[in-house]
Amino acid sequence: MKSIPSPGPFGVEFFDVDVNQMSDVELDGVATAQNNHGVVFIRDQNLDCEQHIAFAQRWGKIVTNRFFERVEEHPQIAVVRKEPKHRTVVGEIWHTDHSYDAEPARGSILYAREVPSAGGDTLFANMYMAYDALSRGLKHTLDHLSAVHSSAHVFSTEAVQIHEHDDDRFHGGEQAIQRSIHPVVIKHPISGRKALYVNPDFTTHFEGWTEQESRPLLKYLYQHSTQDEFVTRFHWSPGTIAFWDNRAVMHKAINDYPNERRLMHRITLAGCALQGV
Ligand code: SIN
Repeated sequence: MKSIPSPGPFGVEFFDVDVNQMSDVELDGVATAQNNHGVVFIRDQNLDCEQHIAFAQRWGKIVTNRFFERVEEHPQIAVVRKEPKHRTVVGEIWHTDHSYDAEPARGSILYAREVPSAGGDTLFANMYMAYDALSRGLKHTLDHLSAVHSSAHVFSTEAVQIHEHDDDRFHGGEQAIQRSIHPVVIKHPISGRKALYVNPDFTTHFEGWTEQESRPLLKYLYQHSTQDEFVTRFHWSPGTIAFWDNRAVMHKAINDYPNERRLMHRITLAGCALQGV
């Protein structure tokens, strides 16, 4: 197994390895890189759905997404799809998978099945780096705050229809009732490092503040976290895996390939309740 740094401020790309045959030592190497960088990429894989699931299960328990279209025979796999007819792409707002859950997803394993002829990249923002770069004063304020995360304004039937009328990629809008409170700064459960844990898609406000009061500071934190020095842009090739840690990075899909298809399969790994600092 070989690796190179990703183009960008963080991330590692692995190649010359088949995840179906990965030894425990190689798996440890991937885990260490992910722990240090928040996201890793593994190029040139050839996985059927069972193999994708088997790889995910080597990392822990799978948690099925409630709202995404699923692979028919394999409901653990969420379909991330854009057809030429779609105006929007799934995940085009910066987000952290499942942050509306009381035990948010630990990580996600996204596998590229079909990519457009150009574009369709994914951006990752490193929330350790974003936190570390804040002033001592703002860190101190944020260390004592919690924030509310919700699924309703994103995945309810009404919200999906506003986003893209007649969208066939989502279901279960009536189940979009999750609302959870997490520390704004978490102590990462594995690395022990401090990371910002708010995201533009699912975070609605600071606990005890109104949405209106929360908006300016949240906006500042999003602008701060997504500046170029904290963002890695990943360009896909078919057969590539991106495996990220939702407690260390936010991500966002780029919507720049009108009239083309892109098909990804995503498996999300169960996480744990998050602790503050
Ligand atoms: C996602 O938000 O999980 C999908 C990201 C992507 O399709 O690039």
